[in-house]
Amino acid sequence: KALGALHLDELTRDRDLDAFVLFSSIAGTLGTSGQGNYAAANAFLDALAERRRTAGLAATSIAWGPWADGGMADEEIVAWRMHRGGVLPLQPDLGILALQRAVGAPRPAIMVADIHWGEYAPPFTMTRPSPFIESLPEARAAVEGAGAASERFGRGDGSGLRHQLTGLTPAEQERVLLEMVRLCAAGVLGYSGASAVPAERAFRDLGVDSLTAVELRGTLAMATGVP
Ligand SMILES: NC(=O)c1ccc[n+]([C@@H]2O[C@H](COP(=O)([O-])OP(=O)(O)OC[C@H]3O[C@@H](n4cnc5c(N)ncnc54)[C@H](OP(=O)(O)O)[C@@H]3O)[C@@H](O)[C@H]2O)c1
Repeated sequence: KALGALHLDELTRDRDLDAFVLFSSIAGTLGTSGQGNYAAANAFLDALAERRRTAGLAATSIAWGPWADGGMADEEIVAWRMHRGGVLPLQPDLGILALQRAVGAPRPAIMVADIHWGEYAPPFTMTRPSPFIESLPEARAAVEGAGAASERFGRGDGSGLRHQLTGLTPAEQERVLLEMVRLCAAGVLGYSGASAVPAERAFRDLGVDSLTAVELRGTLAMATGVP
């Protein structure tokens, strides 16, 4: 993706273009778990647009969120995951409208995505703060709200879990821990509850893949306070 854009840049430099539009992705702007390579390529596109503008050439890089109705994100599993994370599919008519506005706008690189910050921001900032997205009032409010809400297993330092384990026999502690792992796995996999996660079943057989594994790791780290 990066090389294709670079070739187009080089091959059209001597032309007087009305527009030079790059289809970037929110993966480069916000980061998407498991897509480090794709994120880098898209960040490269954004930087290329900046460089062209600085050189007085036409350039617009749009970091799109996932589009509805066709394209690489229009797969049920991808859409389901994104949706759960607060990233909604972008309706094509709105996308086209945004495209028209973006071309010729003062900034060469912009993001266009339908994001519900209430769902997106708390997990995004779970392992470290993000001054970048928390500069958005909706995102900051969501993060503060999530921090205030008392969670069943505590807020990320494992204190809730420690409290639950204190005073139990080793066998009871193991039962509580197992229940917690099953509950976390059920949450990540979109199952109804811990009972849907048989304790003896391998994570892979339950449907955990590289992306959900990262999510599960984060959820467990938050519940236990152990990274
Ligand atoms: N869809 C989204 O939600 C979304 C969100 C953010 C960013 N984007 C970006 O938007 C762009 C288009 O996405 P899409 O969803 O429309 O993808 P897509 O449905 O997979 O279509 C990709 C298109 O690129 C063509 N292509 C792939 N490799 C090529 C190559 N080496 N040379 C020439 N053409 C090539 C394919 O041609 P063939 O059909 O002949 O293989 C196909 O027409 C991508 O850069 C993607 O990163 C998409």
